[in-house]
Amino acid sequence: MEKIEKNKEIIKGSCKIEKLIEIIIGSSIEKLKEIIQESSSIVFFGGAGVSTESGIPDFRSENGLYNAVRDYGYPPEELLSYSFFMSHTEVFYDYYKTNLIYQKAQPNKAHKALAKLEALGKLKAVVTQNIDGLHQSAGSKNVLELHGSVLHNHCMDCGKAYDLDYIMDAANCTGSIPKCQSCGGVVKPNVVLYEEALDETVIHKATKTIGLADTLIVGGTSLVVYPAAGLINYYHGKNLILINKSSTQYDHLANLVINEPIAEVLGQALEIAT
Ligand SMILES: NC(=O)c1ccc[n+]([C@@H]2O[C@H](COP(=O)([O-])OP(=O)(O)OC[C@H]3O[C@@H](n4cnc5c(N)ncnc54)[C@H](O)[C@@H]3O)[C@@H](O)[C@H]2O)c1
Ligand SMILES: [Zn+2]
Repeated sequence: MEKIEKNKEIIKGSCKIEKLIEIIIGSSIEKLKEIIQESSSIVFFGGAGVSTESGIPDFRSENGLYNAVRDYGYPPEELLSYSFFMSHTEVFYDYYKTNLIYQKAQPNKAHKALAKLEALGKLKAVVTQNIDGLHQSAGSKNVLELHGSVLHNHCMDCGKAYDLDYIMDAANCTGSIPKCQSCGGVVKPNVVLYEEALDETVIHKATKTIGLADTLIVGGTSLVVYPAAGLINYYHGKNLILINKSSTQYDHLANLVINEPIAEVLGQALEIAT
């Protein structure tokens, strides 16, 4: 009997905590809404966490790293490096096609909320480290893809362009390696691999728009991949908002930190139903 009463107390206590968490999240979203209302030049800067709610895993969750090392014997940073691509092209493509390509993934509420914010004239650009093309699928127009896109590929010998369907079709591949239809060269994704430089034009546009923004919303990024993470240093606006499940090295600089799933947060703030 005593035990039942004790359990009841514990349940009551945890209900109170849940309620309290709900209130805290609610007030953060209200604050986010207020900031959006008063801003006229917002830039969003995001990473892999933006697409996890679309079913695409990020890298730095324990599972991601664990799987790569267990299944392939190398961490993702090595598997996705330029030298690895050149020396172990077959293993690269095995890993890449199995772990980075999600052809059925659909934009989630975060992608949709950002597209809505742009359509309202408030958001000037999405700067993303993601390579999945989901911002464009959701309707965003000004998307600066720092690390390129899996949707675009080219022959390393003659430069001919190929789409994702082409490289995923086994009929166009020797083993897992896609080959050029015209010259037989190896087809490479237009994705910036580790050891490769970022596109100067994209970086220039990103630093410029971030520098002009009055509000910067940073979300779903661990902010550890450089030079992309360093872009935050170009921001001199009024409001810095961080929406990330875990804490980052920039939290102390932010006006508002929300440690909750970003699709839920942005979805609620912009009233996205599904
Ligand atoms: N979808 C993609 O295109 C994709 C997927 C995996 C990796 N990558 C590449 O890997 C690199 C990884 O760096 P990164 O910083 O973008 O990712 P990361 O994996 O280093 O970090 C993701 C961050 O997002 C947070 N997160 C995960 N799900 C979240 C959610 N639902 N809501 C809020 N936060 C969430 C995590 O706590 C983590 O801090 C990038 O360069 C990117 O190009 C891209
Ligand atoms: Zn070719």
